[in-house]
Amino acid sequence: MDNVNNSFDDCVGYIIYPETFKDGNGDGVGDIPGIISKLDYLRDLGVNLLWICPLFKSPMDDNGYDVSDYLTINPLYGTNEDFKNLLEEAHKRGLRVVIDFVLNHTSDEHPWFQKALQDPSCKERGYYFFRRGKKEGDRILPPNNWKGFFATSVWKQVGDSEDFYFHLFSEKMPDVNWANPELREEYFKIAHHYLDLGVDGFRLDALAHLAKDQSFEDAQGQCDEHGLVFDTSKYSNRPELYDYLREFKNKVFAPRHCLTLGEVGGGVSPEEALKLSDRERGVINMVFNFDTAWCNGAFGSIDRKDEDIKTDVIALKRNFLRWYEACHDRADMPVYWCNHDHPRVLSQYGDTRYRDESAKALFTILLFLYGTPFIYNGDEIGMSNADYDKPEDFFRDVSTKNEVAALRANGYDDETITRYLRRASRANARTPMQWENAPFAGFGPCNNVNKVNENYKQGVNVLDQMKDPWSILNFFQYAIMKRREPAINDTVLHGSFSILDFNHPDVFAYSHDGKEHFAVIANLRPYQVYFGFYNHPQDVVLHNYGDVLLNDHVFTLRPFECFLIKI
Ligand code: GLC
Repeated sequence: MDNVNNSFDDCVGYIIYPETFKDGNGDGVGDIPGIISKLDYLRDLGVNLLWICPLFKSPMDDNGYDVSDYLTINPLYGTNEDFKNLLEEAHKRGLRVVIDFVLNHTSDEHPWFQKALQDPSCKERGYYFFRRGKKEGDRILPPNNWKGFFATSVWKQVGDSEDFYFHLFSEKMPDVNWANPELREEYFKIAHHYLDLGVDGFRLDALAHLAKDQSFEDAQGQCDEHGLVFDTSKYSNRPELYDYLREFKNKVFAPRHCLTLGEVGGGVSPEEALKLSDRERGVINMVFNFDTAWCNGAFGSIDRKDEDIKTDVIALKRNFLRWYEACHDRADMPVYWCNHDHPRVLSQYGDTRYRDESAKALFTILLFLYGTPFIYNGDEIGMSNADYDKPEDFFRDVSTKNEVAALRANGYDDETITRYLRRASRANARTPMQWENAPFAGFGPCNNVNKVNENYKQGVNVLDQMKDPWSILNFFQYAIMKRREPAINDTVLHGSFSILDFNHPDVFAYSHDGKEHFAVIANLRPYQVYFGFYNHPQDVVLHNYGDVLLNDHVFTLRPFECFLIKI
């Protein structure tokens, strides 16, 4: 059953958010039979590696990232039998399947945590972090001042006792203690179980945070209005992390030859990431960083006006280049614009007024960069941020819900908050996948998840785009076919790469020299710009306008114009 091909050469990845991908049984929630029904679609698109967000049993506080039973498929999504079927059907079509493995925390409804609450002397108590609060007069305060990722203290009091437990994400997601060898063995067993079933590998969720500073001393630094300090150095990329993962590699990843993609946010540098993913000495195959995700100032932008949110094209180029330079001959590297934790890229760096042009331009830039490209479901039809008009519409995302509570407490009105959420909330990328111009966009006969985006009626749906040879969808399919041509693939992965005119504030352009010689040139503005070019264009391989405008070595680039040319 082991996967003998654990290379990423010739891989184009596709990220599936199961809750809103495809509803197969009509209950208004996406599910595994729904995914199976779309495997032909995915094969035809040309992708060959699926990362599926968590499918395990969960009370869905964080939409599946709060796992209450790792060995049972979430009944909302189907049965264990459905999951086996999914693996079989995907493999028949040449699609490898990587499942999302949540290692940093469980749900508070997981039996380990329930036991730990009931019996402080049980072994499971040591799987989590329980600490005494600080007494101040009659009050009991959390053990320290650390702030977590979802806008709260990392401590939650257990009833009205003096004990608190630690949670970096929502309070229904207690962190587990990887310093405990028995806990580690539990996770290794679960990994073996899924490899036995035939999964090809794991996306390792929130990997950077497995090791904490167990002195739990107060963080120094700027306090928020509740006296909390957000200091990721206390729980991100700490030295012990590498020991835990080496053991994981020795006991599971290496003997089972599986693919491993780690999520390593928390401001990790390429050098730190290489400690994880270096081909010779690393412990996993590749790491997802967040550096290319917020280069328009939308993160935390509540006080900004819409007109201040603008793509910093130079920063974007700098971030890709920095990772390329560190990794290209040492590590595999994913490149991606979006996943379920970010707003839609079309709304971030593209422009809905130029949906078609900007979706194609962004994809072309990404697809031919060094690394393994990952498409987030819906990007292939140009899906954009949610069109919601009040904060509550975004509340299926618990981090947004917590953030809104904090913003309201700080006096922000709902209009300002909604404007901000429409550019920054994670719920933006979690609206149902738009399959056709039919009720609920063909997601299912009803919808019990995030509200669908109404723009499915204006051609932002799969079926309409399948029929249109010039659609975004058909462009993606053709571009992927080109990207996977052996000579092009070889050139992207092994040729030499340069950013062209790095300091151009509007254009993202680069070239590759190897078995093939080609350049990608893309205007990332909704207006016309010029770009000097001193090579000799040969064929135009991909283009989102009909004709190339070149005069005296200067390209005139229309809004979001982009092409790939052989030189
Ligand atoms: C990762 C997931 C995110 C989740 C968090 C906690 O960042 O991608 O969706 O909320 O981990 O599991």
